[in-house]
Amino acid sequence: MKVIDRIADLRVALDAPRAKGATVGLVPTMGAFHEGHRSLMRMARANHDVVVVTLFVNPLQFNVGADLDRYPRDLAADAAVARAEGVDFLFAPSVGEMYPQAVVTTVHVDALSAGLCGTARPGHFDGVATVVTKLFSIAGACTAYFGRKDAQQLAVVRRMAADLNLPVTVVGCPLVREADGLAMSSRNVHLSEEERRCATVLFRALREAATAVTTAGERDAGRLRELVVTTIGAAPTVRLDYAEIVDAHTITPVEALAGDVLIAVAAFVGETRLIDNVTLSIEPESHEARADLGVVAESFHIGS
Ligand code: PAF
Repeated sequence: MKVIDRIADLRVALDAPRAKGATVGLVPTMGAFHEGHRSLMRMARANHDVVVVTLFVNPLQFNVGADLDRYPRDLAADAAVARAEGVDFLFAPSVGEMYPQAVVTTVHVDALSAGLCGTARPGHFDGVATVVTKLFSIAGACTAYFGRKDAQQLAVVRRMAADLNLPVTVVGCPLVREADGLAMSSRNVHLSEEERRCATVLFRALREAATAVTTAGERDAGRLRELVVTTIGAAPTVRLDYAEIVDAHTITPVEALAGDVLIAVAAFVGETRLIDNVTLSIEPESHEARADLGVVAESFHIGS
């Protein structure tokens, strides 16, 4: 695996094999790799001739300076993980390489960026859309893999790639959970033992809501939301930021469940803000419901 920190060098490294017909799989990340990232790398490795992982802690998407400062960074450890997953290129540019001048050009994806984390973190999705557009432009024609834990991010990036005719196919991959249901996140390292235990309430609340939909036939978004709010509200050290039920593609609130719907939550566990979600798909004909809560990490052979 080659570590590259210059944009021009990555372009050359990818253009040469692509000119000979090779396909490129791209995994954009901010590092601090866990099993969720590894699952994206494996998906890219299984489907492409060349795999590039980008590792860039993007200052533009942090609206709280302290959050940016405490974001975990360990290039050597991340490079070892990427190498073990058979990645060909790890692109780890500096802030100066990505933003050599004051940023005056940004990408804004209207509507989809407004609710959920967009309300709680103003400007966050402009930062994401801007850096992902840059990464897509640098990488060129490819297939890009994103985790479904960041479901709103996935919807924003998908729409952005379509609206701007970027030569990139965006693929959403399963949310990966710890054995007790906690969604894998680079932020989990900030949780104390007690907070780590309490944090599983997000998964339990979502699973409870999913069961109400799939087995009890609940279709009323208001009642489902109430269920989630009550369960999370009862957990110590957890402060709910939002619990919303939205269309999975447009991220607009729904009243009655139909099609692909997302129950999305964000909560502070101590000082750490965590997000989680479940996707529910209601069949238009039969009205049968399926719930996608993701996969448990064991199935990915942690540590190998
Ligand atoms: O999901 C992330 O790690 C980041 O938001 C991304 C997509 C790499 C953009 O910085």
